Amino acid sequence: MNPACAEVGAGKKSRHKDKKEKKMKRKDTTEHHGGHAEEEAVHKKKKKKHTAEKAEKADQERKPTVSIAVAGSIIDNAQSLELATLLAGQIARAAAVFRIDEIVVFDSSPSAESGGGVEDEEESGARFLIRILEYLETPQYLRRRLFPMHKNFKYVGLLPPLDAPHHVRKHEWSEFREGVTLGGDRSKGTQVDVGLSKNVLVDQVLEPGKRVTVAMGTNRDITTDCVREVVPPSSPSKETGSYWGYKVRYASNLSDVINGSPYKEGYDHIIGTSEHGETIISSELILPSFRHLLIAFGGLAGLEESIEEDINLKGKGANDVFTSYLNTCPNQGSRTIRTEEALLISLQYFQDPIRRAG
Ligand SMILES: C[S@@+](CC[C@H](N)C(=O)[O-])C[C@H]1O[C@@H](n2cnc3c(N)ncnc32)[C@H](O)[C@@H]1O
Repeated sequence: MNPACAEVGAGKKSRHKDKKEKKMKRKDTTEHHGGHAEEEAVHKKKKKKHTAEKAEKADQERKPTVSIAVAGSIIDNAQSLELATLLAGQIARAAAVFRIDEIVVFDSSPSAESGGGVEDEEESGARFLIRILEYLETPQYLRRRLFPMHKNFKYVGLLPPLDAPHHVRKHEWSEFREGVTLGGDRSKGTQVDVGLSKNVLVDQVLEPGKRVTVAMGTNRDITTDCVREVVPPSSPSKETGSYWGYKVRYASNLSDVINGSPYKEGYDHIIGTSEHGETIISSELILPSFRHLLIAFGGLAGLEESIEEDINLKGKGANDVFTSYLNTCPNQGSRTIRTEEALLISLQYFQDPIRRAG
């Protein structure tokens, strides 16, 4: 390995030193015993996977996250494919602007799930929203490989890009890059397209077509055979503080939003938003210190209807389901604030309380 490639990412020197020492030790043992190379390789791969999983888990446990839940029904109310696409684009932009970690798109009932299963069938508003949100979050150079053509992408080209830090341009250098794994010769690892003029090599053997986050290390010469490292997707924001995009999740109803949290310990503070909520000015809102905050936004009929429609929440009211139920835009001059408007208003409203809680 090119020595300049050994140091992948800042602050990892000691980890690499340890690894190197262990590698040397193992090499000695292998030579001594003669020909356990295959076993060694399997062991090494398993260990690396285990370490990455452990790091991802520990990481998830540390960093406070903000999730939003949005009713997929907002798409069903859009009057054309073009308007539905623009609406999805607004949700994605709001999420990126406010550094949202997770967007949960929820349906009103489990039966709404069915749309989108068969190619010719109309997909549900929730499925449509998820498709566009995932597309927009993905760096442009990866989209062709990760998203097969679909009729619902017809107007996606009209949308303004997220222009998030992980959408790194071809001529830019970045400590981390998002990539997609490629097929071909696996003798040295896996080739990854990270949106540069040449693919890079990572030492893990990974199946083709997977999105990965690559630590590019310090060697900027991509013409060499330098081996880069696949890291957990949370590493860039943890190590550089940069926003690194959102994850998207489908939930069949509101209770699934809450109970299906990807975080082991679940959401520890859940806010519902509504014109019927409590009015507290932003500077006086005290949020408890949280690890995983969830802020929910309803559709045309609001979150109270989503609660009523949810058989798992029978007999419950907004104050039973949410830790806080808030009106973030008191004295509204229009009879209704649309969800996409409420998203921008509310996420701005929560900025300071979130910062103070952190
Ligand atoms: C068309 S509104 C639904 C109207 C409904 N009467 C309600 O509960 O607010 C769609 C969504 O926008 C958000 N929203 C609308 N007005 C709001 C306000 N004043 N404060 C906070 N969120 C609001 C809520 O998430 C709501 O579910």
